[in-house]
Amino acid sequence: MAPLPPSPPLLKRSGSGSEWSAVVQRNVKSSLLLLLVLSAVFAFSILYSSRGLAVATSAGEALAQSPLLAALDMSRRVPGDDVEGQRGRGQGATAEDNVTPEQSAPAAISLPSANSSAAPSSAHEQNAAGPSVQLEEKCDITRGKWVREPNGPVYTNLTCPMLPDFKNCQKFGKDPGHLYWRWQPDGCELPRFAPERFLDVVRGKRLAFIGDSLARNQMDSLLCLLSQAETPTEVHTDAFDRFGTWHFPAHDFTLMVMWTEFYAHAVPVADAQGKPTATFDIHLDRLGAEWTSRLPGLDYAVISGGNWFFRVNYLWEGGRRVGCVNCGREANLTDLGVPYAVRRVVRAAVEGIARCKDCKSGLVTFLRTYSPDHFEHGSWFSGGTCNRTAPLEEGEVSMGSIGWELRRVQRQEVSRVRGSGGRRFGVLDVTKAMMMRADGHPGAHFDARWMRNGSDCLHWCLPGPVDMWNGVLLQRLVEISPPPPPTVR
Ligand SMILES: *[C@@H]1O[C@H](CO)[C@@H](O)[C@H](O)[C@H]1NC(C)=O
Ligand SMILES: *[C@@H]1O[C@H](CO)[C@@H](O)[C@H](O)[C@H]1NC(C)=O
Ligand SMILES: *[C@@H]1O[C@H](CO)[C@@H](O)[C@H](O)[C@H]1NC(C)=O
Ligand SMILES: *[C@@H]1O[C@H](CO)[C@@H](O)[C@H](O)[C@H]1NC(C)=O
Ligand SMILES: *[C@@H]1O[C@H](CO)[C@@H](O)[C@H](O)[C@H]1NC(C)=O
Repeated sequence: MAPLPPSPPLLKRSGSGSEWSAVVQRNVKSSLLLLLVLSAVFAFSILYSSRGLAVATSAGEALAQSPLLAALDMSRRVPGDDVEGQRGRGQGATAEDNVTPEQSAPAAISLPSANSSAAPSSAHEQNAAGPSVQLEEKCDITRGKWVREPNGPVYTNLTCPMLPDFKNCQKFGKDPGHLYWRWQPDGCELPRFAPERFLDVVRGKRLAFIGDSLARNQMDSLLCLLSQAETPTEVHTDAFDRFGTWHFPAHDFTLMVMWTEFYAHAVPVADAQGKPTATFDIHLDRLGAEWTSRLPGLDYAVISGGNWFFRVNYLWEGGRRVGCVNCGREANLTDLGVPYAVRRVVRAAVEGIARCKDCKSGLVTFLRTYSPDHFEHGSWFSGGTCNRTAPLEEGEVSMGSIGWELRRVQRQEVSRVRGSGGRRFGVLDVTKAMMMRADGHPGAHFDARWMRNGSDCLHWCLPGPVDMWNGVLLQRLVEISPPPPPTVR
């Protein structure tokens, strides 16, 4: 079955069991992943607890479907409950931090209608864009292989103070074999990540990772990589680690993370008691203000996504429910499929960015393609594991997988928006490389207090293969530097 998408973190710090809340309180800032796994574990324990709730036949299925999981998912942000807005600003924060969704949600963004959503011909996947294609990759990093790297990673759990415990796989006994590999593209080199080089390229700039916990994963990786050259200042993070800002003063570089599961405006479906469930109503014709309101002021945006679409979700358009994904058992609704939903929100997101009138004209957006999971023999809590100790061979990964299809959809939509002129878009096409890294997930390697019997085969260890995403990002940034001069806002 489809993997359990990352669940938003457990929000309430009290009232959810003293042991858990104590753990949460101690670690509330340490890791989004910790929190989300806690919420999943907690939901799992409730499912099987003495409360007499129906016991699902498959724990993974129960979690993917369970309203209980979503009942714990109380942390959806709505305009106006922005914790950041109430927090003091540290150095490095600028006026752009103060925008509220109401003030600056780019109302001018009109989104494509359902009718315009037919898939563009796949023959146009690459090189289909018009003369305004500015970010064509100089090196096709999708073709290549993982080769031995005796030097190991750029940082370790001892040299990266901000490494979250939940991705600190070495601390919890993971085989270090996965650390000694690097991606070797067929036709070019992907140089070892050079923190100083990155900081030079982004001097004076603001870069945001926008998306779910895998966007956070990449941000955590970049923080570790860059901290080898300069220690960042935490400007602020919200209580749930969903929005955060770090500043590298010597380079005046601002690094941000912004949470959105779907990019489109989405609200959890309520159950009969009014409690939010794991299912979302996704409004394909409206972008989420939580991230669009924070676009102004950015020089670089890295978008991604896809993993949240595997649960049951309803798709809305023009105020009507037009279909669903994974709602198989429900009558009268067309299951439009995950690739369709992903296509629509990627299209909406990139078109929204292309047209954002309050954004810098020089804003450059990269889409980091789909990051696959590697559960084997089950899912999160149904005995799924990922205990391999070396990358898969090329022949062991399936180009017929849904992940590969989502990557194709994402690339097509970026090509499409490139053809429309305006702002610049690029791709960090990591899907193939990551499909081969079944050995790079935490698996069962985290604190046993937090998760007794589950495996995380979705997120990536730090250090680990996810660091390669930032190597690719650095390459893309170098290729387009010197960046266009910032425009007057
Ligand atoms: C959009 O499609 C619907 C049916 O799917 C049709 O009734 C409607 O006229 C179409 N609108 C446009 C603008 O093509
Ligand atoms: C770092 O990783 C080593 C294993 O490589 C482990 O023994 C140690 O406990 C970890 N230290 C921290 C602070 O995470
Ligand atoms: C499905 O559609 C039919 C005909 O439009 C209607 O009679 C029926 O009540 C619908 N069922 C559900 C579950 O909405
Ligand atoms: C842990 O998982 C294994 C197999 O996946 C199962 O046999 C065992 O009962 C589980 N333990 C608990 C405490 O759930
Ligand atoms: C990996 O997990 C599988 C399934 O739980 C198990 O059968 C196998 O022995 C494990 N391999 C290693 C190397 O631990």
